[in-house]
Amino acid sequence: MKLTISVIKADVGSIGGHIKPSQKLKDVVANFVYENGIKKGEVVDYYISSTGDDIAILMTHKKGALNDTIHKLAWDAFVEGTRVAKEQGLYGAGQDLLKDAFSGNVKGMGPAVAEMEIEERPNECFVLFAADKTDPGAYNLPFYLGFADPMYCAGLMLSPKMGKGFKFVIMDVAHTEGDRVIELSAPEDLYDIAALLRDNQRFVIEHIYSDSTGEIAASVSTTRLHNIAGKYTGKDDPVALVRVQGAFPATGEILAPFSIGHYVAGFMRGSHTGPLMPVKANSPISYFDGPPVVSAQAFSVKDGKLTEPADAFDQPFWDWVRDQVSQKALDIRRQGFSGCAMLPYSELEYGGIVEKMKKLDGKFKVRK
Ligand code: 13P
Ligand code: 13P
Ligand code: MG
Ligand code: MG
Repeated sequence: MKLTISVIKADVGSIGGHIKPSQKLKDVVANFVYENGIKKGEVVDYYISSTGDDIAILMTHKKGALNDTIHKLAWDAFVEGTRVAKEQGLYGAGQDLLKDAFSGNVKGMGPAVAEMEIEERPNECFVLFAADKTDPGAYNLPFYLGFADPMYCAGLMLSPKMGKGFKFVIMDVAHTEGDRVIELSAPEDLYDIAALLRDNQRFVIEHIYSDSTGEIAASVSTTRLHNIAGKYTGKDDPVALVRVQGAFPATGEILAPFSIGHYVAGFMRGSHTGPLMPVKANSPISYFDGPPVVSAQAFSVKDGKLTEPADAFDQPFWDWVRDQVSQKALDIRRQGFSGCAMLPYSELEYGGIVEKMKKLDGKFKVRK
């Protein structure tokens, strides 16, 4: 059976700063999707969750990727959410809805979207990743390790179904006139893939395919909000869908690289470097508007119907990881604004620092 899994996420307002959405806001979004998606037969199933201040609408349906009915449903749910966010006086109400009117699909309009059309396996399972206070390049390292490095993905050695490796579709997100993409396969092009993926702000994994079966394995939202808005409007806070088991990495293999807590862009005002902390679903944000966080909810699906999620980072092992990541966050925060603790000017130039630099520029004098 052909099935499309879509996750569309947005920040349309949160309690007490950029912390977490209100329960009422989540309920309103959920109810909207139920009334206009389930009852009208547009979607097969849905699930609402939050990560930091972002709400993710997960949907299964039969309409394919980039479908205007599905995208409009999510957009309208977020518009309805924005109305409630304003009523409640939530912070940043409608933050990620960058355009006034919906047109076609949500790409380039603010919300992040990851989708895949699949042939549903008899025991189909996948993981929904949702990150807050960071950008889509945050998935580059963990997905590279989870799909291309046998040090993390033992299946690359042990499973005949994964023997041929995986194809990476990588997007140049600096190219805003259209989707500029390259296809490279691991292990053949491993060093080329690494050369691109080291630059998390420019080159971002968009899709991954099994080279053994041709099936889609992963889909990542690639939105860079500052490229759309031309100014800082909040961080991109990317979502991703990853199919697991069988021809794909085991769930634990794709989770394993998140134990690194690697340093990513984001954190306070989207302008800093911080370690990515694996958190339970629906976790709030705290220290220095961070640290950057990622949740992982695993689902099984039958005829498009979702089970309840297994909250993959809600397990004692990850408590220890979170302690380590907290230490990394404190370590880099001790140097405040200095050097690599803040993002380079190219990333900050969409924010208020542009005005400051202009003013200072006029005060410089060249000595005779
Ligand atoms: P089970 O034997 O529990 O199905 O696990 C198989 C496996 O490959 C785990 O990575
Ligand atoms: P969000 O992008 O999650 O709204 O965070 C914005 C911010 O500036 C936090 O300090
Ligand atoms: Mg916010
Ligand atoms: Mg956010």
